[in-house]
Amino acid sequence: MDYTIETKRLVMGPFVDDDIDRRVVLANDIDVARMVTRMPHPYTRKDAIDWVATHDAGREAGTDYAFAINRKGDGLIGSVGLHKKGNTLFDLGYWIGKPYWGHGYASEAAIAVMDWGRKSLGLREVTACYFTDNPASGRVLEKAGFVHTGTDGNCHSIGRGEKMRSLNMIWRDGAQKQG
Ligand SMILES: CC(C)(COP(=O)(O)OP(=O)(O)OC[C@H]1O[C@@H](n2cnc3c(N)ncnc32)[C@H](O)[C@@H]1OP(=O)(O)O)[C@@H](O)C(=O)NCCC(=O)NCCS
Repeated sequence: MDYTIETKRLVMGPFVDDDIDRRVVLANDIDVARMVTRMPHPYTRKDAIDWVATHDAGREAGTDYAFAINRKGDGLIGSVGLHKKGNTLFDLGYWIGKPYWGHGYASEAAIAVMDWGRKSLGLREVTACYFTDNPASGRVLEKAGFVHTGTDGNCHSIGRGEKMRSLNMIWRDGAQKQG
């Protein structure tokens, strides 16, 4: 399976050891951690090493596909991945380091990973959710072809140390083209 995704400005692929230091710097930010569910805060070098060490097994099991988001000519700027929930559905997750917000990178990465998931994994439905105080992420998901399901949730964020209301979205292959 081809595990490299290239877009106009980004290259996405497996995390490598050289990504660890930069990942720690970018991920150790409460404004990132509070918007996702599973990122410890503070975020340590051990957290990064332990997390990257799970990737080969996740890919082999077909349950987790994590990509480093690299800006061409620069380096790591964030992370995007597909994580299997339950028996069938995958969930899309991502974050971008704060210095790189507002340049369309999350949208560019999310669109490309959904295309990869459709072609490489044969995905036809993917879920995602975002906290209600994170409308920028809702917009990223819309741009990647997700629509609101009309349902909400109450997810625990390790970074916040509490639960927060979230909105559920779903991507269905082909729905975008049908408008
Ligand atoms: C959310 C996040 C991924 C966005 O990354 P980004 O690279 O800045 O996103 P993009 O530039 O691709 O797109 C952001 C979109 O949200 C819009 N937006 C930004 N702030 C907004 C707000 N307060 N309300 C509504 N839309 C907003 C932008 O205008 C843009 O849409 P547009 O292209 O139509 O103008 C980034 O801020 C991040 O990593 N946050 C912390 C972690 C996180 O939230 N992960 C997602 C968890 S569900």
